[in-house]
Amino acid sequence: MKKYNVAVVGATGAVGEEIFRIFEEIDFPFNKIVPLASERSAGNTITFNNGDLVIKELTETIFHEEEIEIALFSAGGSISEKYASFAVDAGAVVIDNTSHFRMDEDVPLVVPEVNPEEINEWKTTGIIANPNCSTIQMVQALKPLDDAFDLVRVDVATYQATSGGGKEAMEELVTQMQDFFAFKLDDSEHKAFPHQIALNVIPQIDVFMENGYTKEEMKMVNETIKILGKNVEVCATCVRVPTLRGHAESLTLTFDADVDANEAREILAKAPNIIVIDNPAASEYPMPAACVDKNETFVGRIRNDIYRKNVLNMFIVADNLRVGAATNAVRIAQKWVEIQEATK
Ligand SMILES: NC(=O)c1ccc[n+]([C@@H]2O[C@H](COP(=O)([O-])OP(=O)(O)OC[C@H]3O[C@@H](n4cnc5c(N)ncnc54)[C@H](OP(=O)(O)O)[C@@H]3O)[C@@H](O)[C@H]2O)c1
Repeated sequence: MKKYNVAVVGATGAVGEEIFRIFEEIDFPFNKIVPLASERSAGNTITFNNGDLVIKELTETIFHEEEIEIALFSAGGSISEKYASFAVDAGAVVIDNTSHFRMDEDVPLVVPEVNPEEINEWKTTGIIANPNCSTIQMVQALKPLDDAFDLVRVDVATYQATSGGGKEAMEELVTQMQDFFAFKLDDSEHKAFPHQIALNVIPQIDVFMENGYTKEEMKMVNETIKILGKNVEVCATCVRVPTLRGHAESLTLTFDADVDANEAREILAKAPNIIVIDNPAASEYPMPAACVDKNETFVGRIRNDIYRKNVLNMFIVADNLRVGAATNAVRIAQKWVEIQEATK
């Protein structure tokens, strides 16, 4: 099997570090893996497979110089906007974790458990987009239920961890908690979030749009429709909570057909990369603290609506840095390699 030259752009970030950890855990056909970041980090090293890799500066020519064939971008939308084309021109496929290309109609937006066939469309632009973290875990649970009962509407409220905002956002929560125990919380600064996040919840992620929804909420609307390939109604309320890692979502799903919670539970238990934890009598259900470092989406509290036979409620949780970002990107890379090998 051919071995590939891989670059990770944003190698020192919350998502980039997780990509390296996943690559250590799986058997990926590498020739080499090149960590890229800003000039601030260039020259530092990261540990990978018991050795040291030197971080290189992201430049316009680096993809060509390193003969990169697969470039995983997670350094922010403006970096992808500026540098993805240099990677594509050097002959690489770009797998982009930022929101920059997601709604471009020529760029496939892929969750491998849902629409893997769309990876084939990478050749149009050379870019495959990774969806928003909250969207990925949600569509993984929606797809098998849509196939069975024909989904017409999703009402979702999220409980999103601080790591969704990157490393600095996690540090802001930790610092504020330390300030709380030092009786200094009132003087604590907030930069990553619009308010204090310690001992608080904030019903705003990203900026507000003219329609009263936030950009994060509209990402869940638009990306879900694009990935499922159908005009399902989505109403999202995205909330930041003072956890470090793992996004939770409370879902109310309306189907065209009547739905039975037991049948839904069985369908979800057989779905790829979904684990059902649903034993209320023993207080067993998905929680952020139990999903850290896991590559699956956890589903529980599956129950019929009290009033409507075609409505189902459930609670889902996944590690946003893994399932919501790094794991999905690496799974896309694995499928892309499979396609290259199959079409040789
Ligand atoms: N966190 C999540 O749950 C999540 C989920 C899905 C998607 N994403 C997306 O993934 C991207 C990264 O998120 P993150 O949470 O990993 O952020 P982060 O922890 O803040 O890391 C940012 C990374 O970008 C690099 N970077 C910044 N400016 C750069 C420049 N001018 N040139 C090269 N590299 C530069 C940083 O390198 P230095 O260390 O050198 O500054 C660092 O490696 C964002 O677009 C985010 O929306 C995040």
